[in-house]
Amino acid sequence: MHKKPVALVTGANKGIGFQISKDLAIHGFTVLVGSRNLEKGKEAAISVGEDARAIQLDVTDQHSIDAAAERIRSELGRLDVLINNAGISHAGETGRKLEEVGKSGRPSVASIEEVRTVFETNVFGVIAVTQAMLPLLRRAPAARIVNISSGAGSLALSAAPSNTHREMFGAVYSPSKTALNAITLAFAIELESTGIKVNAVCPGFTATDLNNFEGTGTVQQAARHPVKLALLDENGPTGTFSNERRQLPW
Ligand code: NAI
Repeated sequence: MHKKPVALVTGANKGIGFQISKDLAIHGFTVLVGSRNLEKGKEAAISVGEDARAIQLDVTDQHSIDAAAERIRSELGRLDVLINNAGISHAGETGRKLEEVGKSGRPSVASIEEVRTVFETNVFGVIAVTQAMLPLLRRAPAARIVNISSGAGSLALSAAPSNTHREMFGAVYSPSKTALNAITLAFAIELESTGIKVNAVCPGFTATDLNNFEGTGTVQQAARHPVKLALLDENGPTGTFSNERRQLPW
């Protein structure tokens, strides 16, 4: 059995996942840098740290997920931390302005195909990866699962008339993150007796490809709370959704 704790970060070749990987490596983890494109993953792993390894992982492809789980089992024997970070904000052309994405995501005009594609990655992908990794997480002494969600998916925040961003709620990205929060709670409830903690977190509005670099925060700021949740001790919470811009609930 591998000595160092092992973390898998999905969609880690760039953006927030890349930074989370770097931070976990600093905390002593062997980090598996999940990437659809193995070459990009290998490039990223070099910057993540000495003990980082690229792993091919497309969260919408069950064969890719199963192969990744099998590789982790045979090479490392267990998984201590799973960060479900991979996500997409829309299924249209890359480089679209947020305003445009918001308009095409309005419930009255949103393409059903786009809703399906976004849910495929942001929701079904998380369920599939978590299910495949669970046998490995159960082998760790105190496994943690962190789902990278968004304040945009919070029904409470979006229902508040005082929320000036609520017209961005739409029918595509935000509801996919609402569903992710629900899935987080479902896993947390089922796994409560095992000691495996499952939490969702909003990393804050961050400048990445996801929003055409219109975000205002840095990836360093964005990685902070997800990493904190990955390092929770036995007294830490499970089944929570915390929002970077608000005080954490503990
Ligand atoms: P990004 O676009 O820089 O990174 C997304 C990553 O997910 C990329 O590595 C991409 O290759 C990967 N990915 C996409 N589809 C995939 C698939 N099918 N299989 C495997 N990997 C896949 O965006 P960012 O901002 O770093 O996003 C990371 C997470 O943070 C996402 O879940 C996003 O929804 C969430 N988030 C981002 C916010 C922001 O302001 N940037 C705000 C709130 C949440």
